[in-house]
Amino acid sequence: MTTLGLIGAGHIGSQIARLAVSRGFAVVISNSRGPETLATLVAELGPSARAATAVDAAKAGDIVVVTVPLKNYRDVPVAPLAGKIVIDTNNYYPQRDGHIPELDNESTTTAELLQAHLPTSKVVKAFNHIYAAQLTTDGQPTGSKNRRALVIAGDDPGAKATVTDLLDQFGFDTVDAGPLKEGWRIQRDTPGYGPRRTAEELRRDLAAAKRYADQ
Ligand SMILES: NC(=O)c1ccc[n+]([C@@H]2O[C@H](COP(=O)([O-])OP(=O)(O)OC[C@H]3O[C@@H](n4cnc5c(N)ncnc54)[C@H](OP(=O)(O)O)[C@@H]3O)[C@@H](O)[C@H]2O)c1
Repeated sequence: MTTLGLIGAGHIGSQIARLAVSRGFAVVISNSRGPETLATLVAELGPSARAATAVDAAKAGDIVVVTVPLKNYRDVPVAPLAGKIVIDTNNYYPQRDGHIPELDNESTTTAELLQAHLPTSKVVKAFNHIYAAQLTTDGQPTGSKNRRALVIAGDDPGAKATVTDLLDQFGFDTVDAGPLKEGWRIQRDTPGYGPRRTAEELRRDLAAAKRYADQ
């Protein structure tokens, strides 16, 4: 059984946990306040889920999802994630995260920041442009007509193939935006950020995306 580790148990983390459990994964989930604060969620998720510290969730996960407010990304434990696929759901909201100059000047992207923090992990951007609630309502079986698609970006082809397979099991097609540095094409205020899109529509949205400086 594949184990999904989760660092972050809020809107997105708890929903990815529900989805993963419903698709037969084991889940180890963590937050900033400690495992005991996740007792209600873990009871809901059932016997294939447990709460842990962030370090233990990182150690336990075959794949680990980082889904914390971006301002806290430097807290993500580095050593236990060495060599692992790490999914980054994070978005940049300066009013929440404070100003990050290299994002303000668009010289990097959120996922590249996480990749720099986790130099030996294989970071794949995913789940950043779907509202949390829709994760458990919008999935459809493989091959469904007009199936919803989600964007990934990443620098490691093998990691992207694994995440594409994960998304398929979760009920979504995948559109590959390219390397991490192309992740800006699905950041806040781009056409594909938020609405339900098929793969074809998302490809169009990615091509039409504009940098903040050009909007
Ligand atoms: N909400 C959405 O629909 C949505 C959609 C796509 C992407 N996103 C992005 O995904 C990320 C998470 O969003 P969210 O809405 O799920 O946030 P949220 O509801 O505020 O949840 C954040 C979670 O991260 C945990 N956390 C914070 N600092 C941590 C740390 N240092 N170590 C371990 N866990 C920590 C929090 O734990 P405590 O509560 O214990 O502090 C909480 O469980 C954000 O970057 C957001 O922009 C959100």
